[in-house]
Amino acid sequence: MKVVLGVGGGIAAYKAAELVRALSERDAEVQVVMTEAAQEFVRPLTFAALSGRKVITGMFSAGGGAEETLSSAVEHIQVAQENDILVVAPATADLLARFANGIANDFLTTFYLAFTGPVVLAPAMNTNMWNHAATQANIEVLRSRGHRIVGPGDGFLACGMVGPGRMSEPVEIAEAVLSLSRRKDLEGETILVTAGPTQEPLDPVRFVSNRSSGKMGYALAQAAADRGARVILISGPVHIPEPFGVQIVHVRTATEMRDAVLAGLDESTIIVKSAAVADYHVSTVPQQKMKKTAARMSLELDPTPDILAELGQKKGDRLLIGFAAETENLRQEVRRKLASKNCDMLVGNLVGQEGVGFESDTNEVLLGLATGELISIPKASKREVADRIFDEALKLRLALHAAQ
Ligand code: PMT
Repeated sequence: MKVVLGVGGGIAAYKAAELVRALSERDAEVQVVMTEAAQEFVRPLTFAALSGRKVITGMFSAGGGAEETLSSAVEHIQVAQENDILVVAPATADLLARFANGIANDFLTTFYLAFTGPVVLAPAMNTNMWNHAATQANIEVLRSRGHRIVGPGDGFLACGMVGPGRMSEPVEIAEAVLSLSRRKDLEGETILVTAGPTQEPLDPVRFVSNRSSGKMGYALAQAAADRGARVILISGPVHIPEPFGVQIVHVRTATEMRDAVLAGLDESTIIVKSAAVADYHVSTVPQQKMKKTAARMSLELDPTPDILAELGQKKGDRLLIGFAAETENLRQEVRRKLASKNCDMLVGNLVGQEGVGFESDTNEVLLGLATGELISIPKASKREVADRIFDEALKLRLALHAAQ
C-alpha cells in the first residue's frame, strides 16, 4: 500500500513522525508532503530519515536542502496517480478549510484536488477553533465527500486548554488508514451491533447507568464496516467519536434499545450484543423530580426486558453473539450464558482487571462457541479484539453449516 502523508503546521506535527513509523511497520510505503507551516515545527530531514524518501516541501522550489526535498510543477499529478491513500495529520483548521473549499495554493492542497483515492483526516487544533461553526461546517463538507475523520481526541492541549482538539494517537490513525485496504470478507452481511450503556430514569433529572464507554461496541461496528458489511449500530449515550460508514440509531433506555434491535432484526445476518444493558429500571417514572427529605429512601426496581434472551428465541439462522461482563468464574459464566441465551458465540470479559472491559482502550476476552469450543483472545486493542471476534464468527458459521 502506498500512502501520502500530508503534514500540516501544528504542534502535533511531531506525532506525524510516529505515524510514519506506525505505517511503515504495517508495510505501507510512505511519501511525506509537508506544508510550509509544518516545516516550522519539524524539519523535513526527520521525515526523510523515517520514511527513507525525499520529502515534498513545496510546489515549485526545491528550497535549500536538495537532499531532503523534491518538487516540480506537475509532480502533484504524478504523486496522485502513484499512491493509494492520502492521510493528513495533523489536519489544521486552515487545511480543512482549504480542502473543503477547493483552494489549491500549495503542494498538499493541489495534490488533494488531483487525488481520487480515499482520504483520512486527523484534525488537531485548539478547542475553540475545533468547535467554531466554520470548522464544523468544513468537517461536514469533508465527511459528505466520504473522507474519514479520525478524532480529534479530548484532553490537555498545547495551548493550555482542556477539551477536544488533540490529534488522535498515531497507531489509531495508522489503523484507520490500513482499514481502507483491508479484506472485504464481511461484504453482503448486515451486522447489527449494540454498544454503550443504557440510562434508566428515576425521575426527570436522575438516572441509573453503568461505566460502559461504548468503545468495544464502536470498535466492532467500525471493524465490520471496514470489512465491507452494512452496519446498524444501536448506541446508548456515549461520548466518543462515531464510527465511519455505519448507520447509527441513538437510544437511551433498555426498552428503547429493545425496540430498535427488534426493528433491525429482519434485515440483519449477524447480531452482536456488546451493550451493557441495565438489568433493572423503575417501570413508572414519576413526572416530577423526587423531593429530598431527611427520611431514608428505597427504590423499587423491576427487571428490564432481556433483549439477548429474546433474540435467542427469534434469531432464526442469524448468527447471535452475546457478551458477558463478569468479575469472577468467567469460564462457567460464558458457558452458562451461551446456553441459557441460545447464542452462537458468547464473548466474556473479566471486567475487574486493568485494561479489560469497561472504559479501557484494550480488552481481553474468552469466546464460548456453540460448537463447545473455548477460545482465549489475549489483551489487545478493542479494534484488534473486534477483528478476532469477526474472524472466529465467520469460521463458526461455516462449522455450524457443515454440522447441519
Ligand atoms: O463500552 P466499553 O467501555 O468499551 O466496555 C465494554 C463492555 C465491558 C461493556 C463489553 O465488553 C461487555 O462486556 N458488554 C456486555 C455487558 C453486559 O451487560 O454484560 P451482562 O453479562 O450483564 O449481559 C449479558 C448479555 O446480555 C450482554 O450481551 C447484554 O448486552 C445482554 N443484555 C443484558 C441485559 C438486558 N436487559 N438485555 C440484554 O440484552
